Amino acid sequence: MSDFSRFVSQHKAALIVSAVVGVTTVAGTVYYLNQQKQLPPTPPPSSKKSKNKRKKQNKKKKAEAKATLYPVDPQTGLPKITDEIVNTLSDEEKSSWALSLKESGNEYFKKKDFETAIAYYTNALQCRIDPVFYANRSACYAALDKDDKVVEDTTEALKINPSYNKCLLRRAHAYENMEKYPDAMFDLTALTIHGGMSDHSNEVMLERVLKKHSLRIDQEEYSNLPKELPSASSLSSFFGAFAPPDIDLDESKYEESTGARFLVQGLNKVDLDTPEAYDEADVLFNQAISKFESDVDADKKMAALAYEYKGAFDFLKTDSENGVIALNKSLELSPRPRAHVILGLIRADKSDAKGANEEFEAAVKLNDSDPDIYYHFGQMFYLVGDLASAQSNFEKAKKLNPNNVYAYIQLACIAYRQGDAAACDELFKEAKLKFPTSPEVPNYYGEILFDRQNFQGAERQFDTAARLQQALPTFNIGCLPLINKSAIYQREGNVDKCVETLEAACELDSKSDVARSTLGQIYLQLQKVDEAIKLFEEACKLSRSVEERTQCISLMEASKMQLKIREDPILSQKVEEILRQAGVVPQA
Ligand SMILES: *[C@@H]1O[C@H](CO)[C@@H](O)[C@H](O)[C@H]1NC(C)=O
Ligand SMILES: *[C@@H]1O[C@H](CO)[C@@H](O)[C@H](O)[C@H]1NC(C)=O
Ligand SMILES: *[C@@H]1O[C@H](CO)[C@@H](O)[C@H](O)[C@H]1NC(C)=O
Ligand SMILES: *[C@@H]1O[C@H](CO)[C@@H](O)[C@H](O)[C@H]1NC(C)=O
Repeated sequence: MSDFSRFVSQHKAALIVSAVVGVTTVAGTVYYLNQQKQLPPTPPPSSKKSKNKRKKQNKKKKAEAKATLYPVDPQTGLPKITDEIVNTLSDEEKSSWALSLKESGNEYFKKKDFETAIAYYTNALQCRIDPVFYANRSACYAALDKDDKVVEDTTEALKINPSYNKCLLRRAHAYENMEKYPDAMFDLTALTIHGGMSDHSNEVMLERVLKKHSLRIDQEEYSNLPKELPSASSLSSFFGAFAPPDIDLDESKYEESTGARFLVQGLNKVDLDTPEAYDEADVLFNQAISKFESDVDADKKMAALAYEYKGAFDFLKTDSENGVIALNKSLELSPRPRAHVILGLIRADKSDAKGANEEFEAAVKLNDSDPDIYYHFGQMFYLVGDLASAQSNFEKAKKLNPNNVYAYIQLACIAYRQGDAAACDELFKEAKLKFPTSPEVPNYYGEILFDRQNFQGAERQFDTAARLQQALPTFNIGCLPLINKSAIYQREGNVDKCVETLEAACELDSKSDVARSTLGQIYLQLQKVDEAIKLFEEACKLSRSVEERTQCISLMEASKMQLKIREDPILSQKVEEILRQAGVVPQA
C-alpha cells in the first residue's frame, strides 16, 4: 500500500488526467501510465508553422518597416495609430503594419524597455488581432510583475488558440503569484494534456503549486478543528505498550464523586479498549482533575496519575501544549517515570532529540527498572534507524513487562530489518505462543511476509488477524488487517474485493483516515470522483499530522481538478484521444 501511495504522489499530474476517461481498473491505469513514455510525440501546435511563414514575411517587410509604414508621433517617436486610421486600411496593409509594429515591440523587449514594447504590441493588436501579439505583450507584463495583466492577455491568446503552451505556462506562473492555485493547476494540467502527457517537465511546478494550495487549505479549513482523540487502534497500541497502573482498580473502594473514583473509573474505561470507552475516559480524567484541584487533602499520587493520563490524552489529541502543562503538574505532585516518558515523546515529536533524551534520562533516574521507559526509548531508536540500541531497549522492555506484545513484535521486526528472516520467523512464533489471541502478532507478521513478497502467507496472516480481532471485545488494531488485506487484492487487480474490504474497514473504524484515503484512491481509479473527494475530505479531518493532512488535501484537490477537466470539452476530448492512441480505451 505504501508503494502505491508513493506511486500516486509521484504521478499526480498523470493521475489527475488518468481518470478522466476510459480507465476502469487499477491495472489499466498503471498500464496506461507506463505507456505514456512510449507515446508518439504529438505534432507541434499549428501556430508554429504559420510563425515560420510569418518570419519570412517579416524579413521581407523589414525594410519597409524601417521607413515606417505607419504615422509616428514626432515628439515621442512612437507610432500614432488610431482606430480611424486603421479603418481606412486594406487587410493586406493591416497585416503588414501589425507585423512591423510587432517586430519593433520585440526589439524593445530585447532591450528590456517593456513599457515601450507594450505600446508597440498594443498598436499591433489595433491593426490585427493575433494570439502571438497578446502572448508577446503578456511577456512584457510578466517582466513587470503585472500578473493580472498577464492573465488578461494570455487569456485572450488562449481564447483564439487553446493549446498555446507558452501562454498556458505563463498564465500558470501568474496565477501562482496571485495565489490562485487551482487556476494554476488547471493550466499546468492542460499543458500536460496538450503535450500528449509525455512531457513531465511541468510536474515539479504542479507539485509545488499543489503543495502550496494544500497547505493553505490546511491552514484555513483544518488546522483549527477541535482536537480529537485518534482512532481507538492508536490509543490501544499506545496504552497497550504501558504496564498497568499499580493502584487498586476496584471502583467500589473509592468514595463516590471523588477525584480518585473518577480516576479509577477512567482507568477501567481505558482498559475496556473500545472507541466509546476512550471517549468516556477522556471525560472522566478531566472530572478527576477538577475534583483534585479543589481538594487540598487529595492523595498526591492519585492526583499525579490523573494529570499523567490527561497529559497522555492531550498528547494523543495532538494538543501537546496542554499535555506539557498536565505532565509538569503530574511531576510536581508525585514524579513517575511515565510522565517523563510522555514528555520525551512530545519533545521527540517536535524533533527535539536532545530534549527527548533528557526526559528519558530523568525517567531512568526515577526508576531504572520501569518497563515503560525502555519500550518507548526503543521505538525512538527504531525510528531513527539505530537498530542495535532499539533492540537492547526492547529486550529490556520485554523482560520487565512480559505482557507487552509490542516489544515482541518490534524485536521480530528488527531481526527482519537486520536481514535475519529466520530469526524474525522464530520471534513471531514465540509471540504467537505467548499471545495466541492477539491480532497484532499475525497482522504485523503479515506485513513482513508481504514485504518478503510472500503474498499467500501474508494473506493468511491478515485473515487470521481479522478473525482474531473480530472475536475480541476490545478494539486492538481495529481495521488494520482489512486495510492490509486490500493491498493484496489490489496487487491481484481484484478491484471489487479491494473496494469491498476497504468499505468494511471504513465501517469498522469510523476514525481511520488510512482506510478512507486508500479507498478514495481506488474510487478515483474507478472514476467515482465525487465519492473519492468525499472520502479524502473525511480523511483530512481525521488525519493527525500536517503531513498526512496535506497529502489527503492534495489528493482531494487533484480529484477536484479531474472534475474540472472533465467539464472542459476540448481537454476531455484530447485526453480521450491520447488514451485511445495508447490503446488504453478501445478505438471508437
Ligand atoms: C513574440 O512571439 C514570438 C512568436 O511566439 C516569439 O518568437 C518571440 O520570442 C516573442 N517575443 C517576446 C518578447 O515574447
Ligand atoms: C514544564 O517543565 C519544564 C521543566 O521544569 C519547563 O522547562 C517547562 O517550561 C514547563 N512547561 C510548562 C508549559 O509548564
Ligand atoms: C520501579 O518499577 C518497578 C516496575 O514497575 C517496580 O516493581 C518497582 O517497585 C519500582 N521501584 C521503585 C523504587 O519505585
Ligand atoms: C498495513 O497497514 C499499515 C497501517 O495502515 C501500513 O503502514 C502498512 O504499509 C500496510 N502494509 C501492507 C502490506 O499493506
